[in-house]
Amino acid sequence: NKVVLAYSGGLDTSVIVPWLRENYGCEVVCFTADVGQGMKELEGLEKKAKASGASQLVVKDLKEEFVRDYIFPCLRAGAVYERKYLLGTSMARPVIAKAMVDVANEVGADAVSHGCTGKGNDQVRFELTFFALNPKLNVVAPWREWDIKGREDAIEYAKKHNVPVSVTKKSIYSRDRNLWHLSHEGDILEDPTNEPRKDMYMLTVDPEDAPNVPEYVEIGIEAGLPVSVNRKRLSPASLLTELNEIGGRHGIGRVDMIENRLVGMKSRGVYETPGGTILFAAVRELEALTIDRESMQVKDTLALKYAELVYAGRWFDPLRKSMDSFMEKITKSTTGSVRLKLYKGSVMVTGRKSPYSLYRKDISSFEDSLLYDQADAAGFIRLYGLPTRVRSMLKRGI
Ligand code: ARG
Ligand code: SIN
Repeated sequence: NKVVLAYSGGLDTSVIVPWLRENYGCEVVCFTADVGQGMKELEGLEKKAKASGASQLVVKDLKEEFVRDYIFPCLRAGAVYERKYLLGTSMARPVIAKAMVDVANEVGADAVSHGCTGKGNDQVRFELTFFALNPKLNVVAPWREWDIKGREDAIEYAKKHNVPVSVTKKSIYSRDRNLWHLSHEGDILEDPTNEPRKDMYMLTVDPEDAPNVPEYVEIGIEAGLPVSVNRKRLSPASLLTELNEIGGRHGIGRVDMIENRLVGMKSRGVYETPGGTILFAAVRELEALTIDRESMQVKDTLALKYAELVYAGRWFDPLRKSMDSFMEKITKSTTGSVRLKLYKGSVMVTGRKSPYSLYRKDISSFEDSLLYDQADAAGFIRLYGLPTRVRSMLKRGI
């Protein structure tokens, strides 16, 4: 039997390789997904995996798929978890887990394994995706089974099994990075009163150190999906890469929050989502022009549920897919462009336009218009306010 392991090359997953062989007696195929986490040494990675005892390393570039099929639908839906979290890690798990199921199929593996701890959300997201796409696969989660407790244990286990561990400076934070965001958890962040240290951030400059002159950026949008930056058409992944750079240098998209994990506990997380924060502002603003009042209310209501499903790892549920069809339809005419001004951590909207704009200057203007007669307002208010008046009369015995 064979197992496909979600492999990063870090200490934890390096130790999982010999552990799986020892405890399950299986061949280990390592799998690494490129979701824009900034992989430097691909060649080194294969050698490393093999040195740990893997039979092979499979690498797949999922960047375009990740942005096009996972990030953009969430953006179009306006999915935000608990008012603040733009779901960077939540969206990445299903695309990685789906690729693992494909790899298991390609190499004829009967099991999959991941290095998530037993205390978090990621284990749930991986495993629900495995269940949804191949319910026959066995799942091995070493962190829930072994008695390796900390970093020291892991290094010792590695040494005993002749696994070369590059003794790099260990990061004190638990981090997860991809094209959409970088998350920080753990260490001093575990005390919610602690301000994050200035040197923790990696994708964004401190807004205080950002340029003293604002930068304008124009986002082109078609049917609710971003297609261009400053009139330059870009593929989904390159568009996001470009905006991360622009947003990063202006300190855009830092979020510090307490969130409710799926497994019941509250946890503190700090996120950097520079390009994503710009895109959310742009899409939302264009919708204000193209979507009518009630549609927007229903869309916003569904967005809450959508975000909850994505956070909870239920990407492949029929409910999320059905809501996606709704989102696609309701944003069909959200086409146009939005101009934004970036300045020291803030994104300000300065202009928006759309060929499908529902805004009519000739109606809203204070000048006379044909479609709107101010005299009509008197009758409208009388009828619209009738229940209010009746209630008031009752209360006052009139
Ligand atoms: N709390 C965030 C989430 O649940 C981020 C998780 C980060 N994961 C990690 N393995 N470091 O989506
Ligand atoms: C982990 O526990 O592996 C990371 C945190 C999370 O999944 O929420």
